[in-house]
Amino acid sequence: MFPKDFLWGGATAANQIEGAYLEDGKGLSTADVMTLGSHQKKRRITQILEKDEYYPSHKAIDYYHHFKEDIALFAEMGFKVYRMSIGWSRIFPNGDETEPNEKGLEFYDQIIDELEKYHIIPLVTISHFETPLGLQKYGSWQNRKVVDFYVRYAKVLLERYNDRIHYWLPFNEINCMSTQSWVAAGIDSDDEKIRMQAAYHQFLASAKVVKLAHQINPENKVGMMYCGHFAYANSADPDDVIGTMNFMHQMMFYCDVQCRGYYPKYKLKELDRLKILLPIRQGDLEILKEGTVDFLSFSYYCTHVTGKKTNGILKGMNGLDTGYKNTFLTKSSWGWTVDPQGLRYALNYLYDRYQLPMMVVENGLGAIDILDGEEIHDDYRISYLREHLIQLEKAIETDGIPVMGYTMWGPIDLIAASTGEMKKRYGFIYVDADDLGRGSLKRYKKDSFYWYQKVIETNGKILEEENENEKIYRYG
Ligand code: BG6
Repeated sequence: MFPKDFLWGGATAANQIEGAYLEDGKGLSTADVMTLGSHQKKRRITQILEKDEYYPSHKAIDYYHHFKEDIALFAEMGFKVYRMSIGWSRIFPNGDETEPNEKGLEFYDQIIDELEKYHIIPLVTISHFETPLGLQKYGSWQNRKVVDFYVRYAKVLLERYNDRIHYWLPFNEINCMSTQSWVAAGIDSDDEKIRMQAAYHQFLASAKVVKLAHQINPENKVGMMYCGHFAYANSADPDDVIGTMNFMHQMMFYCDVQCRGYYPKYKLKELDRLKILLPIRQGDLEILKEGTVDFLSFSYYCTHVTGKKTNGILKGMNGLDTGYKNTFLTKSSWGWTVDPQGLRYALNYLYDRYQLPMMVVENGLGAIDILDGEEIHDDYRISYLREHLIQLEKAIETDGIPVMGYTMWGPIDLIAASTGEMKKRYGFIYVDADDLGRGSLKRYKKDSFYWYQKVIETNGKILEEENENEKIYRYG
């Protein structure tokens, strides 16, 4: 059984839905200079806009002009919570201004108005893969000045939405610093020293925001958001097990710092070996200690197999190649393993380590959908989500893990972060647009729309019935 106040909903990110990339004073962000890619072709970072190149974030699904219609559809599904992000460069177009752009704030005021109209609780990611491009002149997160710019931005939001928003995530998937640092922090470099200094600055910024959020309104809850990398050892060979431990350390240190308030020993030793000095100043360690998060959230799509051959961390979201395969699991069309039990494992893994309230803030299936008249029969998506929700329920009911909610990724089709494609669709709502932004942008309800509506309406009871009957229901 799911708890009675369980927060069901969906999650999106500003740069993947809004479009209107220069409207109402918005500045360019790191997402706006990423070209279209594909499963086979890496997205290019151009730093300045090139003619004749397609940039998916510029148009996206034009949520900027469709948000009322889209939020009404979320409400129709019965959303209790909506995880959204605020575009930093809408509020501070270059990132370093002293005053915010009022027009940008007004846009989000209207979104919050709509959510309140339907009693949907906002959960806000302050920075989701879009650092203002204007901060490149400082070296982006490599420079400590960016901590102050970010905190200024966060303070504007915390104060303006003081009594309207109480759930905050300072950074989306903070551990992506190690896998795709341009996306996570506007750092186009594989240099470990630069990445580790930038990560340090983000930890500091996050801790400051936790403290500030609590001061501004004690009701505020601030979480961390981990990109769900979880690995099984390739075999019982102790070398594979140690290889897996090392792999997980590369990722878990992000959670350790944010949940415990200090760097774990294994990381300090490694930094020492690499001769990387953290830019620690007086008082910083206290800030980290005092700014630990209130809850732990993560995205979950797949699991990895790792071992003695796994060298370092994963490079880029397109690859996900650890050198091993899991022969027990199938894969999505984009090569991501499908592992519902892994979600239960992940929840246990994290809860054993931190004992914090948890939230699954992304989970979903990127697939090609076919529009059949006005309908989309996406049984594969229903089946994927249903299997994951069954495991989520087991983690709550059987293992006793306090999970506050679940926000499915991409309740409305949006552009994919890793490839920039539109055809990698996650939504319950289909948007008529292709990879080059052509199409009417008309919204259609998929079969999964009606299914999720039933899941929420019955607080997950429908999953038990479906399980007993061993079949997938069609709705609509
Ligand atoms: C998460 C990101 O890593 O994965 C999202 O937070 C992203 O922004 C999601 O969209 C799914 O990845 P993709 O590449 O299929 O969009």
